[in-house]
Order: sequence, then C-alpha cells, then structure tokens
Amino acid sequence: MTCDANRLELGAIAPMAVGSRTNSRSISAVSAIVNTLSPRADVGLSNRKRRESPNRHHIKDFVSRGSDSALHNVISEVTSHRRGQVIVTGASTGIGRATALHLHGLGFSVLAAVRSDEDAERLRQHGVTPLLLDITSPEQLAAAHAQLGSTPLVGLVNNAAVSMFGPLEFTSTEDLHELFDVNVVGQVGVIQTFLDRLRDAHGRIINVGSISGRFSRPVAGAYDASKFAVRAINDSLRRELSHQGIDVVLIEPGGIKTAILGKITDRLKQLSDDRAPGLKERYGAMIDSALKSADKAERHSSDPSVVAKVIGTALTAPRPRTRYLIGQDAHVLAAMTKLPDRMVDRILLKKVKA
Ligand SMILES: NC(=O)c1ccc[n+]([C@@H]2O[C@H](COP(=O)([O-])OP(=O)(O)OC[C@H]3O[C@@H](n4cnc5c(N)ncnc54)[C@H](OP(=O)(O)O)[C@@H]3O)[C@@H](O)[C@H]2O)c1
Repeated sequence: MTCDANRLELGAIAPMAVGSRTNSRSISAVSAIVNTLSPRADVGLSNRKRRESPNRHHIKDFVSRGSDSALHNVISEVTSHRRGQVIVTGASTGIGRATALHLHGLGFSVLAAVRSDEDAERLRQHGVTPLLLDITSPEQLAAAHAQLGSTPLVGLVNNAAVSMFGPLEFTSTEDLHELFDVNVVGQVGVIQTFLDRLRDAHGRIINVGSISGRFSRPVAGAYDASKFAVRAINDSLRRELSHQGIDVVLIEPGGIKTAILGKITDRLKQLSDDRAPGLKERYGAMIDSALKSADKAERHSSDPSVVAKVIGTALTAPRPRTRYLIGQDAHVLAAMTKLPDRMVDRILLKKVKA
C-alpha cells in the first residue's frame, strides 16, 4: 500500500469514528499518523503482503464494536510495517522490551530478539515478532539472519548486555571473558551479521552504551570497561560506515529502573557476604557504598520508556545526534569527566568514607 492509499484508507475510517464511542481526539490521532507516514516507510513490503494486510479484519471489528481498542488495532495495523524493519536485541525486559513496544507503536515492523520461548510468547501477545537469539551464539546469529531473509533493515538496536560488579582484584578472568563475550564481542557479532541488510536500506545502528562508558567507578571496573569499549566501537563504526549511508548512534543512559539494577544489588550483597581473604578489608567500604548507590538508583531512576523514546527519535530524526545522554545523573557524571582526575578520585573516595 502506498502512502496515498493509506490516506484514502484512513480517510474512510475517520468519519466512522464520529458515529462510534471514539471522539474527535481519536480522529486527530488517525490524521496525525497519516501525516507522519513517509514514502520511505514502504521499504521491504511485498505487493502480496500489502494485499494480505489484516487491516480489513480490524476495520470490520472497529465498525461493529466502535471501541477505542479497535481503533488502536486499526492504527497499529495500518501503520505497522510502514516505517520498515528493525531488530532490537535483549528485548525480554527493561530498555529492550520498552524499545521494541515503542517502535512497534511508531509503526516499525519489529523483530524483538529474546532468549526464551516464554519471553517470545509475551512479546507476540503485543503484536511484536520475536526472534530467538543469544548474541554470543554464531549458530543463532546465522539462523536470525536467515529468518530476516532479504528484508532490508532500517534499524538495529544493539541493546543486550549483562552487568558484572566487584573489585577487579576479585573478578576472575573467566568472568571477564563472559562479560566481554556478551557486551562487546556479541554486540560486534550482531552488527557484522546484519550489515548487509542495513546497507540495503541505508539503515541506522543504535548502540546502547552507558554513562559508564565515560566514567569508571570503583567496584564496577569490568562492566564500565565493557561500556568504554562499546563507545569506542560506536565511534569507529560511525566513521567507517558513514560513506556507505549507514549512521551509527550511541545511547548513554544513567540509572534506569530495570532488572539490571536488581542483578547489580544481588551481586554486591553476595560480595558483601563473601569471606574471600582480603576482600572485606580492602574493598568492604567501596562495596557498601556501591550497594547504597544501587539502592538509591532503584528508588529514583527513570522508567525504561524514557530511553525507548530517545531511541525512537534516534531512528526517525532526519539527522540524529551522534550520541544521546539520558538522565540528570548521566549529565552530572559527564560534566565530572572534565574535572582533573585527582579531584574526581577525592570526590568518589570521600563518598566511600561517608
Ligand atoms: N538500567 C540501567 O540503569 C542502564 C544504564 C545504562 C545502560 N544500560 C544498558 O541498557 C541495556 C539494557 O539493559 P537493561 O537495563 O534493560 O537490563 P535488563 O533488563 O537486564 O536487560 C538486559 C537484556 O539483555 C539480554 N541478554 C543478556 N545476555 C544476552 C545474550 N547473551 N544474548 C542475548 N541477549 C542477552 C537479557 O536477556 P535475558 O532476559 O534472556 O537474560 C535482557 O533482555 C544494556 O546494554 C545496559 O548496559 C542500562
């Protein structure tokens, strides 16, 4: 269906809304969506898919029930696929899940990558197509590429990651390998896998880094190092791919209320109880201070939808920024990186002693 055909189809729906329980705001919503549809958004839809669109079913449902939820279905079905195909990794929870649902609402066709059938089913219920993908598995990456087929990709949201906290002295090299396998090697593997399809659509890569990629804290060195690496990879890729028509954007959130914060707190509590010789004496105060910060972050952090909206902007803005810092804490820490190192050390260590 072309953009003009969309206008006709929605033009026919809007007057129906007047006679139903929906109101003029609903009609404005429909009109707004019509107006945001761009010709570029038709990328990747075959003629057969356009003919077989389930829009008709939802329009009939809308007419017979006249409900707002039916209107919602009409809107999401008519707009779905219009902006093109995107992949979001780590979509089971937190920022990834919020992003997958937000992009679906914006009219993207979303492949949401998860690791379990239960998570896949939960997303399917929201109209998002799941993709089974552990980003450290070459076999699953190849299968995901095959599932995508020849569909061009307008966006890849590289979000999946794990956390690992603890003093570097007590972080095993096995744990470091595991962390970097996901947060760094896995992320690059995902990009390499889908670059051909991104080239086909002049798509965008959105890397979810962190303010931790600029500011390294005690007892968070391993995780922070992985996010510094994401930042470096992001900047190199942006410079390598710009002449191929692929833009690369870094998202740098501060604390966001997701499952990762609970995982960090659990790990710090474990360390706090750990009897390893020297751990408590040398790092106990830092671990306690990190626990307090994690606890505060759990209470005061922003909702993942805040990040999802920024990712939506990064994918749809005609000229996106190269990086988006998110949250007041992220801005404060970014400003602190401009201070002399020794001054920042003193500020942080004073906090540990407090
Ligand atoms: N929350 C924050 O405060 C914050 C701040 C800055 C940056 N970030 C970044 O935001 C991103 C999302 O984190 P989040 O806060 O939303 O945490 P989260 O809820 O724990 O989500 C992490 C996601 O990554 C997935 N994942 C982990 N290992 C994977 C693997 N090997 N293959 C595929 N997927 C894997 C997890 O899947 P499973 O459910 O299957 O484990 C989950 O979907 C991460 O890159 C994180 O570093 C978060």
